[in-house]
Amino acid sequence: MTSPLGVYIHWPYCARVCPYCDFNVFKARRDAEPAALARAIVADLEAQAALTGPRELVSIFFGGGTPSLMDPAWAAEIVDAARRLWTPAPDLEVTLEANPTDADVDRFDAFAQAGVNRLSLGLQSLDDEALRFLGRNHDAAAAIRAAEKAAACFPRLSLDLIYARPGQTPAAWADELKTAVALGAEHISPYQLTIEAGTAFDRAVRRGTWAPPGPETGAALFDTTQRVLQAEGFEAYEVSNHARGEAARSRHNLVYWRGQDYVGAGPGAHGRITVEGVRQATCAAAKPADYIARVAQTGAGIETREALSPREAAEERVLAGLRIAEGVAREDLVALAIPPERIAHLVSLGLLADDPRRLRATPAGRLVLDRLTAELAA
Ligand SMILES: C[S@@+](CC[C@H](N)C(=O)[O-])C[C@H]1O[C@@H](n2cnc3c(N)ncnc32)[C@H](O)[C@@H]1O
Ligand code: SF4
Repeated sequence: MTSPLGVYIHWPYCARVCPYCDFNVFKARRDAEPAALARAIVADLEAQAALTGPRELVSIFFGGGTPSLMDPAWAAEIVDAARRLWTPAPDLEVTLEANPTDADVDRFDAFAQAGVNRLSLGLQSLDDEALRFLGRNHDAAAAIRAAEKAAACFPRLSLDLIYARPGQTPAAWADELKTAVALGAEHISPYQLTIEAGTAFDRAVRRGTWAPPGPETGAALFDTTQRVLQAEGFEAYEVSNHARGEAARSRHNLVYWRGQDYVGAGPGAHGRITVEGVRQATCAAAKPADYIARVAQTGAGIETREALSPREAAEERVLAGLRIAEGVAREDLVALAIPPERIAHLVSLGLLADDPRRLRATPAGRLVLDRLTAELAA
C-alpha cells in the first residue's frame, strides 16, 4: 500500500473580508480570473503528482477564502483530477468550507454532485449581535437555514464557531454551543478569537475601542466548551476539534497532525511532500495572478520548495502531534534526541501522559502546548 496523501486546495476569494481574518484572502471577482485560477489548480495538481508519485488519496479539502462561492463545475473538475492522479481511498473524504449566506447555500446540491461529502460551515456565532461584531454578512437565521440545508445535502457536517468575544459569558456561550449541537453536526470546531496582527480587529484593540476577554475568562470559556461538548457526546480529539465518534474526525486535519504528506494547490497553499525519502515544504505564490502566471511558466504553482532536515521534520511532528489526543510515536522523534529525564519531568508535572511508546499531552498539557513543545524541541 502506498503512503496516504491529502490534497489542500486554497480558494482565496471572499464576498467580504472579515475584520478578524488573516488568511490569504481577496475580494471576490466577476472577471475571468476565478476560471483561470480553477484551470491553473488542475494543472498544478498534475505537476505535483509527478513529484509525489503514486499515493493513496485519503482527503481533498477545499479551504479559503470561501470555496462555496466557486462554480461547483470547477470543484468537480478538481475532484476528478485528484481522483485520476492518485488512487482514491474507498472512504475518500472531500470537504468544502462554506459561508452560510443564501448565495452559498444555493450551490450545496451541486457541490454534493461534484463529490463533496463533508461540509465545514463557518457559522461563527448564533447570536445576531455577535455576528455583526464579527463583521459577518449573514445573521443567525441564515446560519441555521444553511446548517439545515447542509445536513440534508451532505453525509457529514462540521460547524466552526468563534468564542471569547468581548463581554461573552460562560453561561451564554454554553447556550450558544447547545443550539449549535442541536443543528445535528457530527463535528464542531470552536476557535478562541485570536487578534491577528494587521487585521481590522488588531487596529481596533490597539486604539482601545474594545478589548478581548482576559486569560481567566478565556480559560473559563475554554472549560465551558469542553464540558458542554463532552456532555453532548463529543470527544475533543484535538485542542479545538470535537467529534461524535472516531468516524466523525476530520481525516484531512489528521493528515496534518499525524505528519502525513499533503499537496497544497491554489494561491499561498502550503504542502508537505516526501520526495525520494526527503520531506519537503512547499509554498505556492500568494496572489492569484502570480499563482496563475507561475503555473503557466513552470507547470506547478510552487514558489518555494525546501528540504526539511530530520530535526526540522521531527520538530514539526512534535508540534502537530501533541495537539491530538493520540499524540506522536517516540520513534518519530529520534532526531530531537530528547533527554529521557526531561520527559520524566514533564510526566511528573502532569503535562505528558506516562506512555513508553508515545508522547501524549494530558488535558492539562494541551492547555500549555507552547511551553511543552518549546521544552521538548529545545
Ligand atoms: C479559512 S476560515 C473560513 C471559512 C469560511 N470562509 C467562513 O468564514 O465561514 C476557517 C475558520 O477559521 C476561523 N477563524 C478565522 N480567523 C480567526 C480568528 N482570528 N480567530 C479565531 N478563529 C478564526 C473561523 O472560525 C473560520 O470559520
Ligand atoms: S473568515 Fe472566511 S469569509 Fe471571512 S475573510 Fe476569512 S475566509 Fe473570508
